[in-house]
Amino acid sequence: MDSLRVGLVGFGTVGAGVAEILVNHKQRLAARSGKSIQLVRAAVRNPSKRESPLLQGVALSADGLDVARDPNVDVVLELIGGLEPARQIVRTALENGKHVVTANKALLCEHGEELFAAAKKAGRTIAFEAAVAGGVPIIHVLGQSMAANQITEIQAIINGTSNYILTEMFRNGASYGDAVRRAQEIGYAESDPSMDVQGTDAAQKLGLLTQLAYGTRVTPDRFLVQGIDTLELADLRYADMLGYAVKLVATAKLVAGRLEMHTQPTLVRKDDPLAKVEGANNVISLTGDILGETWFSGMGAGREATASAVVADVIDLAVGRAQLTFGHLDLWGNRPKFELQPAEEIVR
Ligand code: NDP
Ligand code: HSE
Repeated sequence: MDSLRVGLVGFGTVGAGVAEILVNHKQRLAARSGKSIQLVRAAVRNPSKRESPLLQGVALSADGLDVARDPNVDVVLELIGGLEPARQIVRTALENGKHVVTANKALLCEHGEELFAAAKKAGRTIAFEAAVAGGVPIIHVLGQSMAANQITEIQAIINGTSNYILTEMFRNGASYGDAVRRAQEIGYAESDPSMDVQGTDAAQKLGLLTQLAYGTRVTPDRFLVQGIDTLELADLRYADMLGYAVKLVATAKLVAGRLEMHTQPTLVRKDDPLAKVEGANNVISLTGDILGETWFSGMGAGREATASAVVADVIDLAVGRAQLTFGHLDLWGNRPKFELQPAEEIVR
């Protein structure tokens, strides 16, 4: 049986979850992909983590660039987060003939144009299903299943941490600070949790969805972004008395041919499916001009959900499916673009 050799960069919440699947489900992955998928190399910065039984027999170093340049690696998994050195590692991996899987929405939102151009030039693929909504396969839906449609509206809860914090405060009476700490302990939060609670993470994900759905490149500095960090329990209680839940909702919709976008805490009627999303779950409503409105929901953050999506991308690369799916997305290529409506012109 042919093999696919994987190099892992980052052994935190997601990286360790991925290693666990690669090591503990070898036979399942071989059956699904027709290849022996082997974890052969890893960059692990923290010396104590190098003792993990999951890394036995794996060549280790502290520098992700070693993995990106290793001739024995076919696919590099970038799971460190942030912009640098993640950008350099992904570029180097592509230039050394490797495919890349990443869960890093910040990186793709900021440097996607450069990285997808580098992938195209190298004839390699960047797969990134895990970058938006964790285990919910929303990238595949936009790129494949709804490809016959022009998306007219996206409405989504796509930051698990914020939704978890709101749930903990409202349902369980937790203080804001305790709920943030718990989200960090479980592994839902970004390494800098202000990315979650200020709305940036949700806005970056909305930017990626918008790129896929509308062909328009939008970074969070170009539209209204607010987080849940200014909310108090009293706000949630008043809203409840009036028949509403408060949710961090990310919206992108076509209005008179222009793209209107915002990410902000929103009053949602209690009978709306968005209001019923609890904990770190995510939900995305996509409206297509042919299909109409369709909902997608599931675990949007955390070790297992995210690792599940990363390994699915690895299997797809082994089979050759990811090269088609993600290659055809042509994310930053020539597609119809909609002009973004300036935030100050949006009347709500
Ligand atoms: P963590 O902070 O848990 O893990 C990141 C790991 O990368 C840490 O172990 C860190 O090492 C290591 N690291 C950081 N810089 C380097 C470097 N230069 N070289 C080698 N290792 C390095 O983050 P997550 O696992 O939660 O997130 C990883 C990525 O996945 C991020 O892009 C995140 O946005 C994305 N993501 C996360 C989800 C989640 O639910 N957690 C869901 C979807 C996407 P050390 O321990 O030494 O600091
Ligand atoms: N911090 C992110 C969240 C991880 O809470 O949604 C998943 O992308």
